[in-house]
Amino acid sequence: MIICICRRLNEKKISEAIDAGAESAPAVMAHHQTRFNCGQCRHDIAEMISNSQDIETSTDIAAE
Ligand code: FES
Repeated sequence: MIICICRRLNEKKISEAIDAGAESAPAVMAHHQTRFNCGQCRHDIAEMISNSQDIETSTDIAAE
């Protein structure tokens, strides 16, 4: 599914950026050597980052 229509970034590309260490929506854009145009995707990207961090935290707790 396309998350950023302006830059043609789908969920997979955004996940790649997050997996590579992007911790903010602008960092996701920078990973793909671009930046926001309209900015409407910013919230969805931030939510994906937040969900990813929640998963990492719960995995850390489960490992302890
Ligand atoms: S939808 Fe991402 S910058 Fe417009």
